[in-house]
Amino acid sequence: MNLLTAQAPVRVPRSGKGLALGIWRLVMVALVVMLSLGFTQVAVAQAEPDREMRTAAPGITADQWRQVRSGETDANYRDSRYESDYNLINASGETWRQIRNRWVSPFGLIVIGGMISVIALFYLIVGRKHLEEPRTGRKLFRWPLFLRALHWSVASLFIVLALTGLNLLFGKFIFPTLFGAAVWSWMTSASYVAHNYLGPIFGILLVILLVSLIKDNIPKKHDLEWFKKGGGLVGKGHVDAGFANGGEKVWYWLLASVGLMVVASGFVLDFPNFGQSRDTMQWANIIHAVGALGLTAVAIGHIYIGTLGTEGSLEGMTTGYVDETWAKEHHNLWYEEVKDQAISEEEVAARKSGDSSSDVSASRPS
Ligand code: HEM
Repeated sequence: MNLLTAQAPVRVPRSGKGLALGIWRLVMVALVVMLSLGFTQVAVAQAEPDREMRTAAPGITADQWRQVRSGETDANYRDSRYESDYNLINASGETWRQIRNRWVSPFGLIVIGGMISVIALFYLIVGRKHLEEPRTGRKLFRWPLFLRALHWSVASLFIVLALTGLNLLFGKFIFPTLFGAAVWSWMTSASYVAHNYLGPIFGILLVILLVSLIKDNIPKKHDLEWFKKGGGLVGKGHVDAGFANGGEKVWYWLLASVGLMVVASGFVLDFPNFGQSRDTMQWANIIHAVGALGLTAVAIGHIYIGTLGTEGSLEGMTTGYVDETWAKEHHNLWYEEVKDQAISEEEVAARKSGDSSSDVSASRPS
C-alpha cells in the first residue's frame, strides 16, 4: 500500500468501555507522576534533616518538639513501633554519640598509636633482649599442647575481633575513599557478622584460658621487686620471677578484669532480646569500646615482647619447650623448681614423634 495515498482510518466513535479505559489510563499516569514527585520530595527531605522534620510532622511546633526532646513521656510522644516506654526522641542517644565520637574514638587512636610509637622507639633505642649466656641445648617443658592450642585460639580470635572492631570505629575515614562505597559496604557487613559471631566464642575460650592459668598468676611478694626494677630494665642482675613474671601477671589480671568486662558488655550488645533498655545498650557500647581499645594497646605490647622483643620466648608457645638458659634468665624461681627435668633436643624430638601423648598430657611443673 502506498503510504501517500493511503486513507486515514475512519474514526470509530468511542464506546463507553473505551472511554472508561482512557480515563483509567489518565488516572494511572497522574498517579505515577504524583508518586514520583512524592519520592523526589522524600529523597530531598532526607538529604536535609530540617526539611525532613517539617515534611514528616508538619503540624508540630517548636514547643512540642522541645517537650518530646525533654524526655517527658506522654501517650502522644511514645514510640509506637512496638511496646515501648521510650520517648519519641531518645535524647540520651545524642549524648552517647558525642561521647563515642568525641572521646572514645580519639582515646583509641591515642592509646593504640601511642603504644606502637613507644614500642618502635624502644626497639630502635634498646633493641631486642638477647640471652646473656649461650643456650645449653637442654629443654624444659613449659606449655602443654592444650594450653598452646587455647592460647593461639584466643589470640587469633582477639586479633580478628580487634581488626573488625577497629574497622567499625575508624574504617569509614579510610576505606570508602580508598576502595569505593561498594567494597566499603561489604567490609562493614562482613565486620559486623564476624564480630558478632566470634565475640561469644572468644569469651568462652578466654574464661577457659583464665581458669587454666590462675594458679600461676597469683600475685607474690617477689613480683613487687620485679616492678620496682622495671622487669630487669633498672639496675643490674636478673629479677626474681616464678612461672609467670610480674608483667605477665598484669596481662593476666587485665584480661581477667577488663577482658571479662569487654566480653560481658559484648554479650549485652550481641543479644538485645533480653529486655535491656537503650540506655543500657549505650553504656555497654561505651564500656565495650574503651575496654577493647585499651586491651588492644596492651596486646600489641604483649605481642612485641613475645616475638621481636625477647629471644627464646616464642618457641615456648610454639613448641612447648624452652631452653634452660632462657628459663634461668627470665623465670629463675620456676627454673629452680624444674631444672632436674631438663631433657636434650633429641629426647624432645623423640617425645614429639614417638610418644606424642607425653607432650599433650605431661603435667606442667610449677
Ligand atoms: C600474635 C599474637 C601473640 C603472640 C606472638 C603471643 C605470644 C605469647 C608468648 C610467647 C607467651 C609465653 C610467654 C612465656 O612463656 O612466659 C604468651 C603467653 C600468654 N599470652 Fe600471648 N601472644 C599473642 C597474643 C595474645 C593475645 C591476643 C592474648 C589474649 C587476648 C594472649 C594471652 C596470653 C596469656 C594469658 C599468656 C600467659 C601469660 C601468663 O602466664 O599469665 N596472647 N603469649
